[in-house]
Amino acid sequence: MNKPKIVVTRKIPGPALELLKEHGETYVWDSEEEAIPYDILAHEMKDAAALFTNVSDRIDRAIIEGAPNLKVISTMAVGFDNIDIQAAGERGIPVGHTPGILTEATADLTFALLMATARRIVEGSEYVRSGQWQSWGPMLLTGQDIYGATLGIIGMGRIGEGVARRALGFEMKVLYHNRNRKPEAEEKWGVEYRGLDDLLRESDFVVLLAPGSAQNKHMLGEREFKLMKSNAVFINTSRGTNVDEEALYRALKNKEIWAAGLDVFAREPVDPDHPLLSLPNVTVLPHIGSASIATRENMAMTAAQNIVAGLKGKPLHFEVKQ
Ligand code: DGY
Repeated sequence: MNKPKIVVTRKIPGPALELLKEHGETYVWDSEEEAIPYDILAHEMKDAAALFTNVSDRIDRAIIEGAPNLKVISTMAVGFDNIDIQAAGERGIPVGHTPGILTEATADLTFALLMATARRIVEGSEYVRSGQWQSWGPMLLTGQDIYGATLGIIGMGRIGEGVARRALGFEMKVLYHNRNRKPEAEEKWGVEYRGLDDLLRESDFVVLLAPGSAQNKHMLGEREFKLMKSNAVFINTSRGTNVDEEALYRALKNKEIWAAGLDVFAREPVDPDHPLLSLPNVTVLPHIGSASIATRENMAMTAAQNIVAGLKGKPLHFEVKQ
């Protein structure tokens, strides 16, 4: 009997590929840097039984409907805004993801970006490397205090809680905004709920961790940035589409807010000529929130296990609710 074809859209870390090979005939787009071109993906999917994907692929209705034998889609990510969940649901195709696995790594990176932005770490490093450093200066590269400041977390899921726990070590006052209140988190970590506007008005640091979705598109725009403090540091490690980037650019340029740290962009990879990248008070990263070696290996293995379960017609280990 022919083995089912498993399309893997990128070179993946760790032993996950070995597991997939035990259960199917794998097609691997064997690049670390470049995403699989859409046309090649569409072509390879025509006879595929399973799809191992990631946040850089667009898995739209055409891809799903063009794959008549498809039994399971599995993304090596917690977010699934790049996948047409409705189209998959209509065909009864389960979609797997990797929640939980990347919580701590992403909370670490979020806090690292917060600290790097507040204390101008990247600017400082470039200053030294480019030979500009002449002497110690009383006002050289001064930033914002983190210790004891007020942190506002928008989106209090697992990663939000992870960031809150880290903030407690810095004796920060932690506010949060979420669709539903989290009495357990309030009790356990002393975090305080606020309406979005109040959170924006009161916070020295605003961290956006809401999932990418049609409802959350541009949830922070001109009005919201104007509510923030002029010393506010804004951090986004969720999805770029959650933010109106033009409004963010204006807020930073006009010093309505102090700085931003961005791991995500509305279009990725972000164009090197994007106006946000021209601003010295913006620290940027290439969507590496979950990118620790161990976490990425675990994510790949979990995504592979979801594929194996789906091929066997069993419930996935972590399945997106459709
Ligand atoms: C996710 O998992 O959704 C991240 O954006 C990539 O790790």
